[in-house]
Amino acid sequence: MKATFKPTLAIAVPLFVLTALASGSASAREPFSKEELDKQQAKLLELVEQGYNLWHGSNPEMSGNGLACGNCHPDAGASNPQTFPKYIQNMNRVVQWGEMVNWCIQNPQAGKALALESEDMTAMYAYAMNLHRGLPIQPGLASLQTKPVPVKYGKGFPSKPSGIGFDTK
Ligand code: HEC
Repeated sequence: MKATFKPTLAIAVPLFVLTALASGSASAREPFSKEELDKQQAKLLELVEQGYNLWHGSNPEMSGNGLACGNCHPDAGASNPQTFPKYIQNMNRVVQWGEMVNWCIQNPQAGKALALESEDMTAMYAYAMNLHRGLPIQPGLASLQTKPVPVKYGKGFPSKPSGIGFDTK
């Protein structure tokens, strides 16, 4: 069937979008200054570094057998934060990334799960996401599970190896 041109809609929709844009920009704040942006970036990198340290065993509660994430997931490899939320076979439901982190803490590491809203969990997420920067977000993609993370830019944050577990520095 041939599409019929509807002039009312053709004008109304762009007008609506323009109005929304105009009112949006009126209430927007000033752009961040360089100082503010630097501060935000520094705060983020602090947390990324905390995540790096946790990944390599800095919180003993997360492991009952001496294993750290870095032993099996060097450079956050095969942790695939960009593929969550997704269906996980052994839980028979769609889970968020942090739940899979807790699964690994409790099973392969025989440790105590992190609260999903804890700073440590946010740090883990910040570290893993930092190493996956630039990869497309592909919720549900299971096929990347065993592929390593391409670490092209070095760590990009000022950490020293913890000496615990497997350090890939
Ligand atoms: C002894 C090895 C081992 C250790 C240590 C380990 N994992 Fe895992 N991890 C696995 C295995 C095996 C799987 C696949 C499990 C599955 O799919 O059922 C996995 C899966 C995952 C996944 C899901 C990846 C995906 O794409 O589905 C995440 C996220 C993850 N691990 C994070 C972690 C974190 C964070 C730690 C440290 C707290 C950790 N793992 C420690 C072996 C390990």
